[in-house]
Amino acid sequence: MKKLRTGVLGATGLAGQQVVAALQGHPWFVVTALAASERSAGKPYGEALRGSGGASRWFADGSADPSVESLVMGAAPDLVDADVDLVFSAVDREVALEWEPKLAARVPVISTASAFRDEADVPLLLPGINNAHAGVIPTQRKMRGWRGFIAPIPNCTTTGLAISLKPLQDRFGLRLVAMTSMQAVSGAGRAGGVLALDVIDNVVPFIPGEEEKVVRETRKILGCWGDRFEPAPLALTCTCTRVNVQDGHTEAVFVATERPADAEAAFEAMAAFTPEGLAGLPSAPERLLQVVRDPFRPQPRRDRDAGGGMTVTVGRMRTDEALGGVKYVVLSHNTKLGAGKGAVLLAEWLTREGFVGGPA
Ligand SMILES: NC(=O)c1ccc[n+]([C@@H]2O[C@H](COP(=O)([O-])OP(=O)(O)OC[C@H]3O[C@@H](n4cnc5c(N)ncnc54)[C@H](OP(=O)(O)O)[C@@H]3O)[C@@H](O)[C@H]2O)c1
Repeated sequence: MKKLRTGVLGATGLAGQQVVAALQGHPWFVVTALAASERSAGKPYGEALRGSGGASRWFADGSADPSVESLVMGAAPDLVDADVDLVFSAVDREVALEWEPKLAARVPVISTASAFRDEADVPLLLPGINNAHAGVIPTQRKMRGWRGFIAPIPNCTTTGLAISLKPLQDRFGLRLVAMTSMQAVSGAGRAGGVLALDVIDNVVPFIPGEEEKVVRETRKILGCWGDRFEPAPLALTCTCTRVNVQDGHTEAVFVATERPADAEAAFEAMAAFTPEGLAGLPSAPERLLQVVRDPFRPQPRRDRDAGGGMTVTVGRMRTDEALGGVKYVVLSHNTKLGAGKGAVLLAEWLTREGFVGGPA
């Protein structure tokens, strides 16, 4: 198969770097165009990654490939004109609102941004969890007159929660979910960022907009697509906090189920969960969801890189008699599964399903 030419918008950011890292040596995709703000445009990627004083701002594992480091960066308009087959967009909401439609008019856009996640003709896809939602893509293309489309991945806090809830939804039904997150500093990106002085030796009990996103997105992902989206009819409430952790979002989850569930049955449902359609995709982990019995796990430092940062780890499964269901702790990597590498996995799935790389 001829490799698909790939552009990355926001390539210097934390999520964009994870896209670039996930595409290095990729068997299906090759990076041919990189773009970011006017600050980076005109510089080779390696140079654009240098911050004040020359310190490297590369945050992903290993280092960028020399062939990618030497690519001269453009700004968003350059990517609109570039000869590419698909684009990854990893920019803030406002930038995405302006540029993703211009890109999608020509090519598929796989996005880590929130700008279009709530639109009625845009799927919020987690491959293996809600594959049927891709059925909206032809409608999106037709209604908007685009040759491409926009396919965003969920917010990184939603990802681990939705994946862990799916087997419980299938087996027991979900009545109510309550969640408190302990989110890593890298989740705030570089531009928005969290100052070290604010977060060291501290917990910040508010992340603007995050709780609303988790509620809306989880209900959309676990809902149905027919000729329109029907959100899952569960009550969902959460508190999102920022903690002194580099990578990996940890969440304490309480679930009231429709049919009786105890810890052992829920453990077994998660252990047996086999998401459909991931086998053979280059970025798919051996297990998308693993559940462990060690009561001291999951921990961000020890478990975030499970499955190359693509495996969600659940632990501390307990029966919750007060709620009538179960409670557990879930951990997922926010910049890998929750951003760059998760976006690449979605692109792989969309390619194999014929949405990317074929005739529009
Ligand atoms: N960090 C995470 O864990 C995570 C997880 C899931 C989703 N996301 C989402 O991914 C997106 C990017 O987040 P991030 O954490 O990677 O942020 P970030 O580290 O602050 O990076 C922002 C990127 O956007 C570029 N940019 C800024 N203004 C631009 C413009 N006008 N035109 C083109 N590019 C522009 C920046 O380029 P310069 O370097 O040139 O300034 C940089 O490459 C956000 O929507 C975020 O919500 C992030």
